[in-house]
Amino acid sequence: MSSPDRIQERRRYLMCRPDHFTVSYEINPWMHRTHPTDTSRAVRQWQALHDTYVRLGHEVELIDPIPGLNDMVYTANSGLVIDGVALGARFSVSQRRGEERPFRDWFAAHGFDVVEPVATQEGEGDLMLAGETILAGYGFRSQLDSHAEVAGVFGLEVVSLRLVNPAYYHLDTALCVLDPVQGPGGAERANIAYRPSAFDERSQGELSERFPDAIRLPASVPETLELNAVSDGRNVVISPPASNFVAQLRERGYHPLPVDVSELHLGGGGIKCCTLELRGGRP
Ligand code: ARG
Repeated sequence: MSSPDRIQERRRYLMCRPDHFTVSYEINPWMHRTHPTDTSRAVRQWQALHDTYVRLGHEVELIDPIPGLNDMVYTANSGLVIDGVALGARFSVSQRRGEERPFRDWFAAHGFDVVEPVATQEGEGDLMLAGETILAGYGFRSQLDSHAEVAGVFGLEVVSLRLVNPAYYHLDTALCVLDPVQGPGGAERANIAYRPSAFDERSQGELSERFPDAIRLPASVPETLELNAVSDGRNVVISPPASNFVAQLRERGYHPLPVDVSELHLGGGGIKCCTLELRGGRP
């Protein structure tokens, strides 16, 4: 089977250096207060991720890290940004509520129209744009009732997907959007990779109907964060070790690029969690 030529899309990302990263509370099954963390190792790994994006030609914006906000490095949770509109996050966990205001202020200061959320949702961690559709996770962090609000703010269809495995508590730990979504025909072309066992039966049915060509990864013990990857349509930045996901990506013409963020996995987040996509917002 000859694989299609994949087209890279130039992206703009928001990242936050993990200067204050540590695990001092446990809000997901990956976090263990007793497991020591190495902040300088986290910074080095984060820097490698940052430099990978820059080398690929992407634009990376930075928000200043704030002492005491250990999880601020996971910028994907700060909101959802489409066409210059930034819907801020409303965290379900008290430990991260302090991040809400600084991120919204950053969006406003950088020319985005900020929408203050009413319902609880944790940004791009649970809300992923695939073509013209927003795939929306719920069950652990984001509340189902946020999905109507999200649909209203962006005027896009929102597909609610129920997460059932606590290790995959955010949608972006179990699903990765692979294709460019903004260009002409993007809606039809958007494909995904996901782990069906992370979803309830209804959601599995929804995904297999909408994405017949998706890459499906089997349940794995122990759980892994390999799907917490970032694709620009061609290059897929992914943390090692990654089962046969890498082989499947290659078969389909994508270019997997391994970047080790194992230190950040100790907080329950990987590559995608450290990367918020900024769409639009420029004249
Ligand atoms: N410790 C963070 C939390 O539990 C990790 C967030 C991971 N982010 C993500 N987009 N999945 O909130």
